[in-house]
Amino acid sequence: METALECIGARKVFYVKKEARPKTKPSAEWGASPGEGGANGSGGDAALPGAIAGRPAKAGAGEHGSADIPSNGGAGGRANGSANGPPNGRFRGRSAFSRAMATLFPRSVPVQAVSGVTFNVRRGEIFGILGPNGSGKSTLIRLISTLLLPDEGEIRVFGHDVVRERFAVRRLINRVSVEAAFFKKLSAMENLSYAARLYDVDIREARKTAISILKRLGLGESKVYEPLEDLSRGMQQKVAVARALLTSPVLLLLDEPTTGLDPVSKREVQDYVLEVREGHDTTVILTTHDMQEADRLCDRVAVIDQGRFVALDTPAHLKADLARDGEAATLEDVFFALTGKALKESHPGEGD
Ligand SMILES: Nc1ncnc2c1ncn2[C@@H]1O[C@H](COP(=O)(O)OP(=O)(O)OP(=O)(O)O)[C@@H](O)[C@H]1O
Ligand SMILES: [Mg+2]
Repeated sequence: METALECIGARKVFYVKKEARPKTKPSAEWGASPGEGGANGSGGDAALPGAIAGRPAKAGAGEHGSADIPSNGGAGGRANGSANGPPNGRFRGRSAFSRAMATLFPRSVPVQAVSGVTFNVRRGEIFGILGPNGSGKSTLIRLISTLLLPDEGEIRVFGHDVVRERFAVRRLINRVSVEAAFFKKLSAMENLSYAARLYDVDIREARKTAISILKRLGLGESKVYEPLEDLSRGMQQKVAVARALLTSPVLLLLDEPTTGLDPVSKREVQDYVLEVREGHDTTVILTTHDMQEADRLCDRVAVIDQGRFVALDTPAHLKADLARDGEAATLEDVFFALTGKALKESHPGEGD
């Protein structure tokens, strides 16, 4: 069977600027240091190809840059432990010059987001990637979709290399991410028409298709002409799914497409994904925190933990491997056994 995706030893390292933190517990006035939590990789659609192409050292700066330089008396400015803030352990006893240098050029620490991942996806397959928060799922999706460049390894989409032939790859794929970017003042239809123009899809056809997909996904026609900012998050997520399907991609990358959807809407999106696979010969790579969804949709799933695949098989085989003494295992049990994390712990924000 034809191979849709080959991923051989893909690796991606981010360099995250290490904040200068006080050794003592910060006072309430200090609060969190500027940029705290900024390294969680939710930059999503901000990660445009040109912006970070091959510049790992700047990846952190690109997405969280402004947070790194404290503005009004941040960590660097309060080095001497005045009444306004606690003494900063890292800066204590340093010259003004070295304090300034440390503030301007903070140390970077490497984060191995994807650590040498190898797998193939067959044409027409729905391939799931499961893993705890921060395990590297979205980074892997961004590598496949040419939004990030791998530091090592090769990724090919229907034989096209994501680095050397990225324009050919982009013609074959589309991506839905959990934090889809839209023009929020424009309506769903205006956003979809814009996307259709970008992809050179006939506008009249695109409008018809958009309405039928949105109807199919349970978004009433009246909502199609309202500004997106007036639609709920779940409704916006449906528009994101519709946008990805307008272009009839041969490889559809779905990064948590149903997070935040109500159970009925989830079902509608899932059914539609199955329908698209059957009707349009689309290959799907799906990340999800919903184990039932993975079980229902995926032909095979990979479990990723700390950037590495720790299992790859059909849901049935993974469950059978874990079942003991005639007691059936669920995919959730498999996830827990492989990653050592309960689902609640791994995805506290589900439904946010
Ligand atoms: N642009 C970035 N800059 C720095 N670090 C990043 C960036 N993007 C991701 N990371 C880091 O890479 C690791 C993997 O992040 P990634 O977003 O791929 O995880 P994930 O599996 O998609 O998590 P989640 O389930 O929360 O969506 C994390 O440690 C994250 O902090
Ligand atoms: Mg993610």
